[in-house]
Amino acid sequence: MKKVVIIFLIPLLFLLTGCKKKENKVLNDDSKVLVVYFSAQNHTEKVAQAIAQNLKADTFKVVPLSEYTDDDLDYNDSNSRVYKEHENENLRDVALVSSKVNNWEDYDLVLIGYPIWWGIAAWPLNNFVKDNDFTGKTVIPFCTSASSGLGSSGKLLSSMAGTGNWLEGKRFASNASLDEIKSWTDSLK
Ligand SMILES: Cc1cc2nc3c(=O)[nH]c(=O)nc-3n(C[C@H](O)[C@H](O)[C@H](O)COP(=O)(O)O)c2cc1C
Repeated sequence: MKKVVIIFLIPLLFLLTGCKKKENKVLNDDSKVLVVYFSAQNHTEKVAQAIAQNLKADTFKVVPLSEYTDDDLDYNDSNSRVYKEHENENLRDVALVSSKVNNWEDYDLVLIGYPIWWGIAAWPLNNFVKDNDFTGKTVIPFCTSASSGLGSSGKLLSSMAGTGNWLEGKRFASNASLDEIKSWTDSLK
């Protein structure tokens, strides 16, 4: 009998003493928040705008100097721009209209959004991440995708940046609902 009680009591105690999943309380009332995103087909843009609205954040859109056309994005065509960039890493050095965010130094939390391309963050974001100093900032990646998870996309960006406190990110489906986005942004508060 004693043994049976112990077997039931131990997991119960474990649960009661805080084996609960920790929530990411990364925001306080004074936090200044920026949502940076790249979006080739507008799905990530919609998610980014909803996140920014929920968190009363500013936004910065990363725009390639030469924007991607529909033909450029045809990953089934071995002659398309993305296909060639995917095949040859040297072609992924995408020039941007600008990497410079006004008052960058004021932001405490930076959320960085992108579509998943072949399992990683769409590379037009790479130069933004390399060009900016994230020292003293908390960074949270988020992505949209057809089915892939976040994978190591955030970790790869974090090593390109070399600075900043990069947290585990969040994957959304391309057409994520506003409710789903809100429950995630609420979890940060
Ligand atoms: C070049 C390319 C590669 C893609 N690779 C993947 C992939 O590996 N996994 C996936 O789930 N979706 C993939 N997708 C789908 C996009 O991640 C998805 O449609 C995303 O929401 C697009 O975001 P955007 O509209 O902001 O560009 C790919 C799309 C493109 C254009």
